[in-house]
Amino acid sequence: MTNLRGMVFALAITVSPALAFAAGDPVEGKKAYAICGTCHGQNAEGNRAMNAPRLAGQEGWYLRRQLDAFKAGHRGTKPGDTFGTQMRPMANTIAAPAALDNLIAYIATLKPAASVVSIKGDVAAGQKAFAVCAACHGQKAEGLEQMGGPGLAAQDDWYLVRSLQNFKKGLRGYAPQDTFGRQMVPMAATLTDDAAINNVVAFIKAKR
Ligand code: HEC
Ligand code: HEC
Repeated sequence: MTNLRGMVFALAITVSPALAFAAGDPVEGKKAYAICGTCHGQNAEGNRAMNAPRLAGQEGWYLRRQLDAFKAGHRGTKPGDTFGTQMRPMANTIAAPAALDNLIAYIATLKPAASVVSIKGDVAAGQKAFAVCAACHGQKAEGLEQMGGPGLAAQDDWYLVRSLQNFKKGLRGYAPQDTFGRQMVPMAATLTDDAAINNVVAFIKAKR
């Protein structure tokens, strides 16, 4: 535990402050979003049948970072990463920086109903495991931009589970240049089995 806390602290001081970005045009973004909606849902609410997570409620800086990661090949290029492989060509359709600003501005206007809870776990055990996560994701899993940790509380629980498994399997956070994804790899490794993953996700989604 002491080592983990030390690691979190060491990582904290290497994270650079977020940059400010130009505001996009949500009207233009809406047009560009039409194709995204076929997988992520028209209100960006997520669509489990398409394996596509919720984008609504996700911080703009985090959406941008993921889309840049897919484009750069830091995500979605590992053999075995079926779903990341589906997403990568979609990110590549976003050509100009302004197009990305517009998409992010449009997604910020969408406010779908809360996602349905589908994962069962031991919330009390999950709470203990979450203590280390809070340093980067916030006490309520609301996200901490200064640490680069996205909000988790609004995300679909099945996607949180899959992402944690992907970090463990080396399907995310594998690229040397993927500074933020690499931080998550040792953290996911603290969740030793599927039950531990379900427990922490159950805690993240528990009303509190
Ligand atoms: C063919 C279906 C499909 C389309 C179309 C699509 N996506 Fe995705 N997207 C996915 C899947 C599947 C994932 C999950 C990848 C994974 O599990 O790692 C994903 C993941 C993402 C993520 C990462 C979210 C996170 O929290 O990690 C972002 C951001 C994203 N998509 C944005 C977009 C945008 C913007 C568009 C339109 C330009 C788009 N997607 C179009 C299937 C799609
Ligand atoms: C040292 C900081 C740090 C700690 C501690 C940490 N995380 Fe993360 N986490 C991150 C960062 C940074 C990302 C974004 C990675 C990226 O940009 O690809 C992330 C991403 C995630 C994601 C993917 C979310 C998405 O929408 O794609 C999940 C799930 C997650 N973390 C869960 C956890 C859990 C559970 C714990 C505790 C066991 C934890 N994290 C501890 C920094 C941290």
